[in-house]
Amino acid sequence: MKEFYLPTKIFMGDDALDRLEQLTNENIFLITDPFIEKSGMLDEVLARMKGRNNDFEVFSEIVPDPPIETVVSGVKVIEELNPGVIIAFGGGSTIDAAKAIKDFAIKLSILKTEPKLIAIPTTSGTGTEVTSFSVITDQEKQLKYPIVSDSLLPQEAILAPNLVKSVPPAITADTGMDVLTHGIEAYVSINATDFSDAFAEKAIQLIFEYLPRAYKNGEDLEAREKVHHASCLAGIAFNIAGLGINHSIAHASGAHFHIPHGRMNSLLLTTVIEFNADIQDFSNRHYSNAAKKYAKLAKILGLSSTNCRIGVKNLNQHIRLLQKELDMPTSLRQCGVTYDQVVKEKRVISEAALIDACTKTNCKIPALEDLEKIIESIK
Ligand SMILES: NC(=O)c1ccc[n+]([C@@H]2O[C@H](COP(=O)([O-])OP(=O)(O)OC[C@H]3O[C@@H](n4cnc5c(N)ncnc54)[C@H](O)[C@@H]3O)[C@@H](O)[C@H]2O)c1
Ligand SMILES: [Zn+2]
Repeated sequence: MKEFYLPTKIFMGDDALDRLEQLTNENIFLITDPFIEKSGMLDEVLARMKGRNNDFEVFSEIVPDPPIETVVSGVKVIEELNPGVIIAFGGGSTIDAAKAIKDFAIKLSILKTEPKLIAIPTTSGTGTEVTSFSVITDQEKQLKYPIVSDSLLPQEAILAPNLVKSVPPAITADTGMDVLTHGIEAYVSINATDFSDAFAEKAIQLIFEYLPRAYKNGEDLEAREKVHHASCLAGIAFNIAGLGINHSIAHASGAHFHIPHGRMNSLLLTTVIEFNADIQDFSNRHYSNAAKKYAKLAKILGLSSTNCRIGVKNLNQHIRLLQKELDMPTSLRQCGVTYDQVVKEKRVISEAALIDACTKTNCKIPALEDLEKIIESIK
């Protein structure tokens, strides 16, 4: 039996931040990163709540790929404030850290009541504002762990496109490719349903149509809004269906290669599609389910898809063109990772990827050697 429910209430539009004006008499714990704190964006949030609420604490220690130590520091602060509301204001790293801080605090029974978590994304990428995932890094073991639990789901998400205007082009491209990878992995996951497909298809279409515009002109608010919505839609899709080995390898290699999450996903995407589609030779008429789904996607995107082989080929070609438009790197070498490093680390990364939570929902069960080959092929 499969199930689908959408527990997060979503506010959207340029005035969506006004939702915060409805908060009264609360102790509010605001979690963010140092860039957002200094950017002036934080003032927009605080201005809507000050004077109506009791106590505020701003915790701005979040760094990209948040380590366990940051979560532990946040738990100490939350214990003193005992907030009714937690506001996570930032990119995926901030929202993931806030989810983990809240969850740890509840598991440790240090809060009197369960606070409401309001997620306000300032990047358009992870969709974490609507997912049961939080990715935390163990720096010592050089591992990124996806924690998966419905208790991590935010109660509310605020999608305000004006907050992502300031995201620079390279981060717009990286995070946008993360959205595309979420949509495509959810679409071919073993747990995909008609419901997750609907969200994934829309997210993928919006990315191909609007991401190049948002990349070329960050002030293009229509494009920014569409990409922001795509991020959330893809988050809903993979929260229903799960992800796959593209993300498993990205998680496992993130703490080794120090490449931004979305960029790493982008490097792997076409190779993983080829692996999953499993089109062996020209005589193959028994296409895998994944190949059929990729071909269907190609059709939806208006590409020629007269058979699965052509559909998969054209989908990958379309992705490569998008990557080119976004000036994305296409090899680990272009990201500063040497071939020696790849050879040295590929086994340990593959071992971690094999047991990553996302591998369970991949449409094709990989062997350790398959994962090593995929990593080797993007050298
Ligand atoms: N929980 C999930 O479902 C999920 C899904 C995918 C990825 N992730 C995780 O999320 C993290 C990546 O999140 P991300 O891609 O959003 O990046 P991020 O949160 O790490 O932020 C990247 C950079 O962008 C900056 N930034 C954020 N908002 C900005 C703005 N409006 N203007 C200018 N700069 C801004 C940040 O200060 C930071 O330097 C990774 O740890 C990844 O593993 C989680
Ligand atoms: Zn991702």
